Amino acid sequence: MPDVAKHVLRDGHEIPQLGLGTYPMDDAEAEALVPEALWRGYRLVDTAVNYGNERGVGRGIRSSGIPRSELFLTSKIPGRDHGRASVRRSLEGTLTRLGTDHLDLYMIHWPNPGVDQYVQTWREMMTARDEGLVRSIGVSNFLPEHLLRLEAETGEMPVVNQVELHPQYQQEALRRFHQEHRILTEAWSPLGRKTDLLQSEWLAEIARKQGRTPAQVVLRWHVQSGIVPIPKSSNPQRMAENIDVFEWELTDEQMERLRMMHTGISGSGFDPAVHEEM
Ligand code: A2P
Repeated sequence: MPDVAKHVLRDGHEIPQLGLGTYPMDDAEAEALVPEALWRGYRLVDTAVNYGNERGVGRGIRSSGIPRSELFLTSKIPGRDHGRASVRRSLEGTLTRLGTDHLDLYMIHWPNPGVDQYVQTWREMMTARDEGLVRSIGVSNFLPEHLLRLEAETGEMPVVNQVELHPQYQQEALRRFHQEHRILTEAWSPLGRKTDLLQSEWLAEIARKQGRTPAQVVLRWHVQSGIVPIPKSSNPQRMAENIDVFEWELTDEQMERLRMMHTGISGSGFDPAVHEEM
């Protein structure tokens, strides 16, 4: 079983270098599939209120037999729960559905700048963290302007920003910003769902030379770039394939080839400056 290395976050906590994405599994799928992933070495499991599968993820974790203390469990607060009065209630619902007394990482799912409640939401999350309900706090889909505002108004930046990121959508400017502020970059849709990434001929060539699959080359690119990918698969064989990216390396030339695959076209088409996630 692959031994997934870890990163140390700015707050001192450790996070596995690769995890399982659970969107769009429903409760029943998550309950059946999360154990399959944990038995194959996954230790980070990523969910969100809006995925509607927290109950299934919790059940799957318990039935896997893997102790909670070995896992890194992350969830996200939805837009409709932003604001002073609703964060605690939302978090308590998440913890109840997951059947756990804490999260390892709690994130704001989207900034929803039109509603403009993310700063207050962040303050509530800092309190939840100080009270021990969550170990680390982060965000998802934040732009530098949102991150700077959190720092200006609360004195604290997130330790993680989880964004759409794959070789066709590399987010280089955002990653530089993260590096300056010691924010770890997590990648959702790391395999470029809704794009033709995995059909790329360049990728196929690198995969042939490495004796690996195109998905493995992509995920190794993330890991080798210091980005934490959370590939989703509902297929146990592909789960095993996706986590087997720690005992081999891409060459500098292959990394450069992958760098040149950037098109700047997002697979989701969501723009955090205007997207409103309810
Ligand atoms: P499946 O669940 O049937 O494996 P992303 O994490 O970028 O959103 O990508 C998830 C999509 O990629 C899912 O449709 C998933 O399908 C597919 N997928 C996951 N792992 C692999 C793989 N190793 N090779 C090809 N497709 C994969």
